[in-house]
Amino acid sequence: MSKELSFKRHRRLRASDNLRALVRETHLHKEDLIYPIFVVEGEGVRNEVKSMPGVFHLSLDYLTEEMKEVESLGIKSVIVFGVPKEKDEVGTQAYCETGIVQKAIRQIKKDVPSLTIIADTCLCQYTSHGHCGVIKDGEVLNDESLKLLAETAVSQAKAGADIIAPSNMMDGFVAAIRQGLDVAGFVNTPIMSYAVKYASSFYGPFRDAAHSSPQFGDRKAYQMDPANRLEAIREADSDIEEGADFLIVKPALSYLDIMREIKNRHPVPVVAYNVSGEYSLVKAAAQNGWVNEKEIVLEKLTSMKRAGADLIITYFSKDVAKWLSE
Ligand code: PBG
Repeated sequence: MSKELSFKRHRRLRASDNLRALVRETHLHKEDLIYPIFVVEGEGVRNEVKSMPGVFHLSLDYLTEEMKEVESLGIKSVIVFGVPKEKDEVGTQAYCETGIVQKAIRQIKKDVPSLTIIADTCLCQYTSHGHCGVIKDGEVLNDESLKLLAETAVSQAKAGADIIAPSNMMDGFVAAIRQGLDVAGFVNTPIMSYAVKYASSFYGPFRDAAHSSPQFGDRKAYQMDPANRLEAIREADSDIEEGADFLIVKPALSYLDIMREIKNRHPVPVVAYNVSGEYSLVKAAAQNGWVNEKEIVLEKLTSMKRAGADLIITYFSKDVAKWLSE
């Protein structure tokens, strides 16, 4: 080799499996995983969501068995979404003591007490119009919605929720929920805020699963514009000021730049929401044999951690927990 040719030998550190493991910077653990579940009313329901293979609507009689499996796989936490039978203009089933979510939370707490239960706090699954707040003259009202959100959070905490995760993107929702929880005596219940939530087409399959598509218009007047970065910083900053204990960035994959920025800025646990569309795209391609599901999922989730996520909400949690034990 000629003398003047000078370069670095990066490949030295990639020579073997063992050496690569020694210098690996990012690790995925079972403890990072949060598993989303959809609970429905009725009995004997275990229906696969069509657009999300491997994800099920579960009635309460199937719930305990499922939660025991999740726990035995080493997953520490679930996030609970309710799919109620009855919907109305003001989302009564979201904050009703006998709502499906409140019942599910009480049951999990009793039967599998070691699981950490996160309650998704929103109105869109519970309102007849499918919007995340109260509607007047075709507009989603901000301040009028806050009261109901606080009430929803308190009812979930009373049922036994360990963490409240508000996802509706009204201004002031963290402040309103913090105050509601404190007044009701839940000063120690943390808030995992969907602080940075974009108006994304990646939520399509979830809206099938949760029956929560808006019946008119879209969510662009409250969820964020995918083109914006500074707006994400403003949202995260105000949620921290209002008392958020965790910050969620959602969706995950198209927003890893935002995840890194939020992580660098705020010394709190940051959560990636690997959303339904991100799940279903992989499932569909894998079913066609076009990608290796296991490898692609582990690569995606590792990338989220590299970008700054401490925790990941993912429909792949059970698979990942199994793969990590192999
Ligand atoms: C409710 C909510 C949504 C998701 C989580 N909570 C849907 C939405 O905002 O339309 C999306 C989750 C996913 O796509 O996996 N507001």
